[in-house]
Amino acid sequence: MKVAITGAAGLFGYGLVQVFSTRHRVYPLTRAEADLTKAEEIRAALAKAAPDVIVHPAGIPDLDICEADPAKGYLVNVHATRYVVEAARELGAAVAYISTDAVFDGQKQTPYTESDPTIPPTVYGRTKLRGEQIVRTLPAHWIFRVSVLFGPGKTNFVEKGLRRIAAGETYMVAADQVGSATYTVDAAQKIMEVVEASRYGLYHLSNQGVCSRYDLARRAAELAGLDARRVIGKPSDQMRRRAVRLKYAVMAMEALKNAGFGLPRPWPEALAEYLRALPRFSPAGSDGLQP
Ligand SMILES: NC(=O)c1ccc[n+]([C@@H]2O[C@H](COP(=O)([O-])OP(=O)(O)OC[C@H]3O[C@@H](n4cnc5c(N)ncnc54)[C@H](OP(=O)(O)O)[C@@H]3O)[C@@H](O)[C@H]2O)c1
Repeated sequence: MKVAITGAAGLFGYGLVQVFSTRHRVYPLTRAEADLTKAEEIRAALAKAAPDVIVHPAGIPDLDICEADPAKGYLVNVHATRYVVEAARELGAAVAYISTDAVFDGQKQTPYTESDPTIPPTVYGRTKLRGEQIVRTLPAHWIFRVSVLFGPGKTNFVEKGLRRIAAGETYMVAADQVGSATYTVDAAQKIMEVVEASRYGLYHLSNQGVCSRYDLARRAAELAGLDARRVIGKPSDQMRRRAVRLKYAVMAMEALKNAGFGLPRPWPEALAEYLRALPRFSPAGSDGLQP
């Protein structure tokens, strides 16, 4: 298959390009190839690649940026998604859209399923939900809602913490945001499996298990042989952030199960593998950990 991947220089884009390249002809699209907010640029770039499938993780994933500048959030997460979908329609390509657990309201006490109502309390969540609605207008589409991402290729929540702790600093994280965690490489593999099977639809996708940001950062520090006490858990409403954080965003992966797909491994296993591939923080290869 010919697979175009937007946001190829981003965290998830990097993992998607690595994984899809093992079996498909991949066209990585970065900002250098096309500014997604310019319909003609993305249309031309996609027409040149003539892909069978467009995987679309590009966007603004930062809740506080979207809350501070809704126009920017809508431009990139909504309008650019519309341009991608319009180009896909012209080319007869299918689209796999990367969405988020932030489409939910965070009020539940049990895992959110794909059929739960979506009532996002943030601008970011609303932009991603609108993106989903646009993608659904295509007959051949997938929507994958993922949760907090970690993986190679770009500094992320986990690596940022390890760097701070290795530099002798503390890492302040929310202790009351419970959700799922997603290793980009595992998620990209599952997306490739679902795409290859042409099983269109909406899927929740993360590694298995529940964790808070605090659990994730602390386990990473332990695995890297660093002082995990430097991870400081705080209530999220004391962290002076512009956008509200969901207290509960655990996702059940019912659609994957119902379609007969295996679920990604538990997050601690995925985290250990990720750290093994990060030489400075590998459990076996700790080297003094200079910042
Ligand atoms: N990160 C998370 O924890 C998380 C959690 C749940 C869901 N998600 C979803 O997963 C997706 C990927 O997230 P991520 O963490 O990989 O994000 P990321 O690292 O910020 O990557 C997003 C990519 O989109 C590109 N992009 C943004 N605006 C663009 C424009 N106008 N033209 C061309 N490219 C543009 C960025 O390019 P530049 O590098 O040039 O800016 C960047 O490479 C997002 O859709 C997000 O909503 C993320």
